Amino acid sequence: MEKKVSVIGAGHVGELTAFNIASRDLADVTLLDIIEDMPIGKGLDMREAGPVGKYDSKIFGTNSYEDTADSDIVVITAGKPRKPGMSRDELVEANFKIIKPVTEEVVKHSPNAMLLYVTNPLDAMVYTGLKVSQFPKNKVFGMAGILDTTRFRTFLAMEIGVSVESLQALVLGGHGDTMVPIPRYATVSGIPVSHFISKERLDEIIQRTRKGGGEIVSYLKSGSAYYAPALAVTEMVESIIKDKKKVLPCAAYLEGEYGINGIYFGVPIKLGANGVEEIIEIDLTDEEKKAIKNSEEAVRNVVNLLDL
Ligand code: APR
Repeated sequence: MEKKVSVIGAGHVGELTAFNIASRDLADVTLLDIIEDMPIGKGLDMREAGPVGKYDSKIFGTNSYEDTADSDIVVITAGKPRKPGMSRDELVEANFKIIKPVTEEVVKHSPNAMLLYVTNPLDAMVYTGLKVSQFPKNKVFGMAGILDTTRFRTFLAMEIGVSVESLQALVLGGHGDTMVPIPRYATVSGIPVSHFISKERLDEIIQRTRKGGGEIVSYLKSGSAYYAPALAVTEMVESIIKDKKKVLPCAAYLEGEYGINGIYFGVPIKLGANGVEEIIEIDLTDEEKKAIKNSEEAVRNVVNLLDL
């Protein structure tokens, strides 16, 4: 393959992300974890699946950052997932201690990479990544909005009884319970969802979307969602590698956009070969602006806890 992607953290999200990228032949993949030998076994299993999976990607696992050298993209999933009843924000202390040294190691070996963060609390962890790496902001971003949006689209499609592929939707804001789904922009192939469902039902679906991650955690008991997160990351990696310039909701560093300065926040971006190529600002109603402010405050409260 022409491109190299490293995935740090070979747990649920990391291994599935690595598999998705490799099995689509998007890039060669290096899968790293701190647990001795485990990523080597997973990587070898995925490589051996190539002939039947019909992919040639040279995927392998490692415990050594030297093997991640000169990556084009590094996906960072290392860290702890939440347990039932926990909010993502409660992970901040434990995961900051992981993300800071992980980022230092990553940038030492791949000074030109793009850094794509998945670890929660997402907006604070990707902020840590920007400050520690000192990379330009277009090369450091986080996956959250695609996941929140795919949940919103799924629930809407289930309710309306149409293909999920016909649903477009947008979720802005921090990756937490204050996220801001924008139902005005939710459509079934361009037809507003309000044509199909009542306001009351829509509000219930928005609430379910906000708590979508927690709903999965409550069933899994130990750990959090990984199928939808891993595919969301894969969509971002594909858009970069193929320079598709997809417009996707992602965590991007804002400097005045949406009236917000100096934090990461979920907004629609154009994602291509140069990473975040554009932040798309849309008009918001007063009510939406209020919800955005509330979400901004929630993100700032967590970022303020970082020892940077
Ligand atoms: N370096 C490399 N890997 C590490 C490190 C480290 N310093 N610390 C932990 N890890 C690895 C763990 O060994 C584990 O294999 O990160 C992996 C995390 O995997 P899981 O526990 O299965 O968690 P996962 O479901 O993948 O979630 C990872 O993504 O979605 C978010 O909230 C989630 O923050 C969590 C992260």
